[in-house]
Amino acid sequence: MNSIKSICCIGAGYVGGPTMAVIAQKNPHIQVTVVDINEARIAAWNESDLTKLPVYEPGLPEVVAEARGRNLFFSSDVNKAIDEAEMIFISVNTPTKNYGIGKGQAADLKFVELCARQIAAVAKQDKIVVEKSTLPVRTAESIKRIFDATNGDVKFQILSNPEFLAEGTAINDLHNADRILIGGEIETPEGNAAIEALVQVYESWIPRERIITTRLWSSELSKLTANAFLAQRISSINAISALCERTGADVDEVAHAIGKDSRIGPKFLKSSVGFGGSCFQKDILNLVYLCNHFGLPEVADYWEQVIKMNDYQKHRFAMSIINALFDTVSGKKITFLGWAFKKDTNDTRESAAIYIADELIQDQAEVHVYDPQVSPEQIKNDLIYLWTQRGVSADEAQKRFEQAVTIYSEPTEALKQAHAVAILTEWDEFKSYDWASIYASMLKPAFVFDGRNILDKEQLEAIGFKVKAIGKG
Ligand code: UDX
Ligand code: ADP
Repeated sequence: MNSIKSICCIGAGYVGGPTMAVIAQKNPHIQVTVVDINEARIAAWNESDLTKLPVYEPGLPEVVAEARGRNLFFSSDVNKAIDEAEMIFISVNTPTKNYGIGKGQAADLKFVELCARQIAAVAKQDKIVVEKSTLPVRTAESIKRIFDATNGDVKFQILSNPEFLAEGTAINDLHNADRILIGGEIETPEGNAAIEALVQVYESWIPRERIITTRLWSSELSKLTANAFLAQRISSINAISALCERTGADVDEVAHAIGKDSRIGPKFLKSSVGFGGSCFQKDILNLVYLCNHFGLPEVADYWEQVIKMNDYQKHRFAMSIINALFDTVSGKKITFLGWAFKKDTNDTRESAAIYIADELIQDQAEVHVYDPQVSPEQIKNDLIYLWTQRGVSADEAQKRFEQAVTIYSEPTEALKQAHAVAILTEWDEFKSYDWASIYASMLKPAFVFDGRNILDKEQLEAIGFKVKAIGKG
C-alpha cells in the first residue's frame, strides 16, 4: 500500500477535531478533511478567532493555526470528503441507548451505522475505514456486513484505532501518546497493508515501538477495558474516602502511600466528587451489557459496581451539604465553583455537578454557578435534559431552572451572600482566590465543600470557614 495522501474524518467533536488537527499538523503531506452534519460546529472550527473553536483544549488553537488551510479543512460536505479520501475515520458519538433493547446500557450505534451506510453509498474506490469512536467488541463485523451488502464493487478494510486522549490534556496526549493501538485483519495481506498504512500516519511523530497492532476484536475490547480499569481505580479510592471520613484517616495520604508501590502507581487515585465525562460511565455500561449478552452475569455485576460506587459518591456529597446545613438547603444560596466534568475543558457530559445540583434543587436549594469555560446555555441544557429525560415536561423543566439556578460570568457576585460554596471542578484559578474576602462576603456560618480537595483546609478553617473535604475525617 502506498502511503496515504487523503484522510476524511466524520465527526468534528471532542475526539475527531483535536485528533485530526494533530494528524494534519504532523503530516503536512496528507490532506485531512474533518466533516460534520452540524454546520454550526463546522463554522466554529473555521472561525478566524481561535478562542471561539467549539472545543476548549489547551494547545489546540496553536495546532489549528499551524495546519488549518494548509492541509487541514473543516467542511459540512460529507459526501465529497468521503469520495476524495483514501482513509476515513468514523469519530461520531456513541451514547448510551435511551430506548428499546439495551436501553440504559448498550451503546447506541445508530450514528455509526448511518456513517457506514453513507460511506458505502458514496465510495467509488477502495477505502480504509477506521473506527475511532469507542465501540462494542465486534462492531467492525457489523460495519463490514453493511459494506459488503451495499457496495460489492469497492473493497473496504476496517481498522479499529481507539483514541485514548483525555480531555483537557488532549494535545499533549496526542503528541506524546503512551501507545497507539491499531486493530485489523492481521490474518490477511490486505488487512496487514491497511494496518501498515495507518501505522505510517502515526509514525510521523510516534516511535514505532509505541504503536501496537492487534486483531480487531482485541483492539475494540482494549478501549472498553482501559476505561473500565481507570474508572475502577477512581471508584476504589472514592470507596476508601467514605471510610476515611468515618475513621479520621486522610484519603490523600492513603492515596500517596499506596501510589508509591510501583505495582499500584500514583495516577488516577485522586478522590473526588465522582467521575464524569462522556466515556467512563457509557463504556462500563456497555461492558456490562456485553457481559450479560454473552452470558456472564457475574462479570457484569462486578463492573456495574464501579458505576454504583460513583453514583453513591455523588449522592454522598450532596447529602453532606444538606446535612451540614442543618438538614435543609431550602431557599439557601449554594454556589457551585465549576460545572465541567474536569478542569481545562468546557465539556460537561455526565459531570457530577449536574446530579449534585439536581439533588440540592430537589431539596429546594438555590444553585448559583460559576465556571470559567462552560456557557450558560450548556448548564441550562444539562439540567433541562436531565429533568425531561425523567418525565418532567419541557415547560415545567424550564420553570424549575429559572426558579432554582443562576449563572455568573465571574465569581465575586456568585459568592456574595452565599450560605455555602461547593467546589465541583478542580480549576486552578479557584486555588488563588482571596478566600478571606470571600468569607467576609458570605453568610455565617460559611461553609466550603471541597469536592476536589484542591483548597487548603487548615487555612480556610483559620479564616473561619466550616470545611468539608472528600475523604478527610
Ligand atoms: C477518559 C480516559 O482517561 C481516556 O483515556 C479516554 O480516551 C476517554 O475517557 P476523560 O474522560 O477525557 O478521559 O478524562 P479523565 O482524565 O479520564 O477524567 C474522567 C473523570 O474522572 C473526570 O471527571 C475526572 O475529574 C475524574 N477523575 C480522574 C477523578 O475523579 N480522579 C482521578 O484520579 C482521575
Ligand atoms: P466525541 O466526544 O466522541 O468526539 P462529540 O459528540 O463531541 O463526540 O462529536 C461527535 C460529532 O459527530 C458531533 O459533532 C455530531 O454532529 C457528529 N456526527 C454524528 N453523526 C454524524 C454523521 N452521520 N455525519 C457527520 N457527522 C456526524
